[in-house]
Amino acid sequence: MRIAIARETDAGEPRVAATPETVKKFKTLGAEVAVARGAGHASGIADADYEAAGAEIGEDVTRTADLVLKVRRPAPNELAAYKPGALVVAIMDPYGNEAALKQMADAGLIAVAMELMPRITRAQSMDVLSSQANLAGYRAVVDAASEYGRALPMMMTAAGTVPAAKIFVMGVGVAGLQAIATARRMGAIVTATDVRPATKEQVESLGAKFLAVEDEEFKNAQTAGGYAKEMSKEYQAKQAALVAEHIKKQDIVITTALIPGRPAPRLITKEMVASMRPGSVIIDLAVERGGNVEGAKAGATELVGGVKIVGHLNVAGRLAASASALYAKNLLTFVDTLIDKKEKKLAINWDDELVKATVLTRDGAIVHPNFMPKTAA
Ligand code: NAI
Repeated sequence: MRIAIARETDAGEPRVAATPETVKKFKTLGAEVAVARGAGHASGIADADYEAAGAEIGEDVTRTADLVLKVRRPAPNELAAYKPGALVVAIMDPYGNEAALKQMADAGLIAVAMELMPRITRAQSMDVLSSQANLAGYRAVVDAASEYGRALPMMMTAAGTVPAAKIFVMGVGVAGLQAIATARRMGAIVTATDVRPATKEQVESLGAKFLAVEDEEFKNAQTAGGYAKEMSKEYQAKQAALVAEHIKKQDIVITTALIPGRPAPRLITKEMVASMRPGSVIIDLAVERGGNVEGAKAGATELVGGVKIVGHLNVAGRLAASASALYAKNLLTFVDTLIDKKEKKLAINWDDELVKATVLTRDGAIVHPNFMPKTAA
């Protein structure tokens, strides 16, 4: 059983899919591990660290690998360097990318999307959405603090008092919760909103104040999987009016709202941006999926009427070493379930619910029901 840790080819991706710690663990499971030269550099891991953990360092490591671990989906021009039949596990970003999935199927790969892992207790330690969103939520506050020209905590000094910053977090999933906790630790006055009623208590337990239109629709706005539903136009209008009044008084707004498989909901209009004081900061964590904020640009910071709208891409990657460590651990716990410990080889149980939920391609075809060509589904 040969495992390869590929080098990420996307210039915006500093993370890596293994750490020396996970390499060591794969070795004890009976695998040979090869790491692409330089794969860990941007995450602060030297080739020598992987070697010390028992890995070989090489150039073309994917060619002979039965299992390739990556952060991002392999690009079309990488596929020729993979062994047909190999298992490739990564964050595949499958929605709207069916053509790329088809290319992986055509290359004979078994592609596994870590972000489709079901959110059940057994798979909690494999949940890459959570491990990465948690770091992104933290980093959003750190980025906001560094863009903001004032202090976050209240400071009473001989030269006068600096008021505490007011931070509003929109979307209280994993990223939002960590943003609230971080903002509180840094001394800000924090409010938050979400369409899922369960978040109210979570917000309050972190010492922040909850703000939302709490009508009948709100009370039912959560799917069985725990995700947000798309809200009616009427609800959105009522909520927008409430938010518009609130935002005028905020110094920093952090938006994290997502609905799986859909474009990010628009929560902040340009009129709301215009109502904020110059020097205010908006961090849009949903910018990769279309953005929550009108005027946010992916990968850029825009200055609109004195308000900074920050649209960093890959925010978890801005903490590459931490993000890689957690992601690598997520992969290790999942891959562990795919290995026959006695035979020391890959033995995939195709009936396992974790496998069924995450396998996108197999035997030359797209097999995941959400992404199959319409006629075949
Ligand atoms: P997400 O990244 O899909 O969305 C972020 C947040 O945006 C969500 O809280 C969502 O309700 C909110 N949102 C969507 N539309 C909105 C709108 N129009 N206005 C305001 N907010 C809006 O969410 P994430 O972080 O993936 O978490 C989703 C749920 O899954 C949470 O309940 C979380 O606690 C749960 N979860 C469960 C796990 C487990 O059981 N193993 C692990 C991780 C999360």
